[in-house]
Amino acid sequence: MAKPTLQAPRGTRDFYPDEYRLREWLFDHFRRVAKACCFEEVDAPMVEHAELFTRKAGEEIVQQLYHFELHDRHLALRPEMTPSIARMVMARAGGLRLPARWFTITQNWRYERMTRGRGREHFQWNMDIWGEPGVAAEAELIGAVFQLLDALGVPAPAVKIRINSRALLEESLRAGVLAKRPEAFEPLCVVIDKLDKIGADAVVEQLCDGAGPIGLAPAAARDVVGLLEARDLDEAAARAPAGTPALAELRRLFELLDAYGVAERVVFDASVVRGLAYYTGVVFEAFDTRGALRALCGGGRYDRLLETLGGPAIPAAGFGFGDMVILELLKDLELLPQLARPVDDLVYAFGEDQRPAAIRVASRLRAGGRRVELVLGTPKLKRVLGDADRSGAKRVFLLGPDEVDRGVAAVRDLAAGTQSEEPIEP
Ligand code: HAM
Repeated sequence: MAKPTLQAPRGTRDFYPDEYRLREWLFDHFRRVAKACCFEEVDAPMVEHAELFTRKAGEEIVQQLYHFELHDRHLALRPEMTPSIARMVMARAGGLRLPARWFTITQNWRYERMTRGRGREHFQWNMDIWGEPGVAAEAELIGAVFQLLDALGVPAPAVKIRINSRALLEESLRAGVLAKRPEAFEPLCVVIDKLDKIGADAVVEQLCDGAGPIGLAPAAARDVVGLLEARDLDEAAARAPAGTPALAELRRLFELLDAYGVAERVVFDASVVRGLAYYTGVVFEAFDTRGALRALCGGGRYDRLLETLGGPAIPAAGFGFGDMVILELLKDLELLPQLARPVDDLVYAFGEDQRPAAIRVASRLRAGGRRVELVLGTPKLKRVLGDADRSGAKRVFLLGPDEVDRGVAAVRDLAAGTQSEEPIEP
């Protein structure tokens, strides 16, 4: 048999202990913020029926699906969590107490073109609120993103959140170029989401593609791109139909964000529309202000997703925050912690005759809640002390023949540099 390759598939990651510790450290922060806001953790299978994800042709995510046929079933690894969450909400729609605040930390799979901070599997922290139609939900979600960034020590000027409203764009287009073709709005959003990546000319070209679902005239396509240039709400107001509710909602959202103390960290940006078709209202993305990385997180309101899946109408808003971009940013900002192997005490038997006594000591300490490494074999004491030092252990319990005869262990306190004795049995 050929030797198996030692490399994991391109775009996937092995997590050796050092990386795993970092990952858990980050997930702990995700969990702590979610729990501080009283969101409850849920989970769903990593494999779903492929049709759950193949709703909208044109979305990049559909082309990036890892999918396969098995026993006549067409299955897919989840590229995102939102459809699974929607499926779960739909299955219990009658009995759920709303608003429901749910969070997840899950691995997702997308066959993406790889760039810094983008892989083919990544973990995502999702926070979603179901059953709240007002922008208080979006404010709570955006507030949580900043809570996380603060907890990770990211300085406020390093990350901002760009906010827009698809409803605002939709109202403008329905009053104008899409007056007779409202169904072209979702595919149009998917195309204009690529503006940063492919540039205005390519976007105009795709908007005008006669064979596609949008098929605008060139002048109309350029008008659409023009609408995306607004960088503050007053400018957006000047281009929108008078009295649009979406604009009032955005103003209210910015007011609420002021109460969260994050007004300086959010900006209106009409070019943010997001690449997923299901968003219907406010949309937002966090980005590093140096512009070196792709979005740290993205989300928004998706009030019609449940209906498109055949369920009742329940308003919803949420975001997904990946693990990869934030780790790149923390690395750049030199904010990654040095996480030692977590050990409180080491217990060392000088010879195999003293091992039973060492086991008793280790068991007693573990039962008391300490993290204890029972040294295996009988390496040189110098090596054991070196290991203890590196892992940040507080104490080393030494069991030599003399100590065991007397029913005690010698206890070295590494920080104080002192040594004392403790009975083996309490
Ligand atoms: P998304 O913008 O596709 O939204 O992904 C959210 C975040 O996941 C991104 O901002 C990024 O941090 C991370 N991410 C996505 N793809 C990759 C990748 N290939 N490699 C590394 N990180 C990645 C969603 O997935 C929506 N379902 C979010 C949502 C939840 N909207 C409402 N609720």
